Amino acid sequence: MLTRKRLDEISWDDFNNLSLEEKAPYLVQANGQAFHTLFSQQFDREQLDQLCDLATRIRRISKQRDGVKFLADLLCHKRAMLYFSQPSSRTFLSFYAACQILGFRIAEVRDPSISSEMKGESREDSIRTFSSYFDMIIMRTPLQGFAEKVAWLLSNTDRPLPVINAGSGKDQHPTQALLDIYTLVRSFEKRGGLENKHIVFCGDLARGRTVRSLSLLLRNYSNISMTFAAPDHLQIGDDILQQLKVAGIQYNVTSDFKATIPEADAVYMTRIQDEWDSKPGESAAFNLEDFSFSGDDLARLPPYSIIMHPLPRRTEIDVACDNDPRAMYWRQMRNGMWIRSALIATNFRRDTEITHYYMMNLK
Ligand code: CP
Repeated sequence: MLTRKRLDEISWDDFNNLSLEEKAPYLVQANGQAFHTLFSQQFDREQLDQLCDLATRIRRISKQRDGVKFLADLLCHKRAMLYFSQPSSRTFLSFYAACQILGFRIAEVRDPSISSEMKGESREDSIRTFSSYFDMIIMRTPLQGFAEKVAWLLSNTDRPLPVINAGSGKDQHPTQALLDIYTLVRSFEKRGGLENKHIVFCGDLARGRTVRSLSLLLRNYSNISMTFAAPDHLQIGDDILQQLKVAGIQYNVTSDFKATIPEADAVYMTRIQDEWDSKPGESAAFNLEDFSFSGDDLARLPPYSIIMHPLPRRTEIDVACDNDPRAMYWRQMRNGMWIRSALIATNFRRDTEITHYYMMNLK
């Protein structure tokens, strides 16, 4: 657990100049748990285990009517703002559902063109406006680092609310990484856990923020190895490889995805993120089939392996795979609701109450 440092005791420039590891102690509350959730580097193994356990408890409690009522009473006096200035289906809806599970009342801004930003109000002032009416801000933004700015800004007002980064630019999607970890942990429960597993990432690894966040979070599990399979121009960034190297993680970089399938414990597919292309067709100069998982590939995937995808997909996973028991992407998506519930409950210090209810009623 990290020892807390205070965001209201450091200037924005000094905070902004820190490495993400150095920023992490500024994001926790007095008990060492996350207050703001901004990037993968802030989570350690103990926190990951606690979040996964809590997600499972919430999931099981939610199966019973009395349990649903118990959960919905926990934070019924709180309000959440979902501020999504980039498109989203899963992250938006699973946060929406997670807030409902915990009893929050919810409001949303998904189109800044109908907010007062169009009258020239700065994003910072918009956020401060939200903070006047709500108790938590969950935000998706195309701007790298903006969620950090918001967390710092609000921590220096009389409304220091928790801020959750629901995807920022091309760099981070920390809560997607949390749900991916929860999916991997659940999938390998009967195979000795996530330790010693080989994860293959495939697709647009240069601009896919989910792979960046997940590969860093995987450093918390011993003897993990990773393969990054992508066309050369869409390969994972050197900054990520450098951080894996420093952590002593074994990794390979290849453009031969098909050769990696028989060796994978998990294949993590991603779509080509051509919305980031600077000119049309820029990222399309390769054979997409070489970086797609086809129905035929099922025969070469070990029986104990799983197929993941943060979704949305285009054609990089054949729909013929959807009903294979190893296709985990639908369950992965649903896991987002449970781990996000666990994260928010922890932000608001309701984790102990949930665990107590679970032990008294379901254990
Ligand atoms: N995985 C993910 O972030 O999906 P959405 O863009 O639909 O939220």
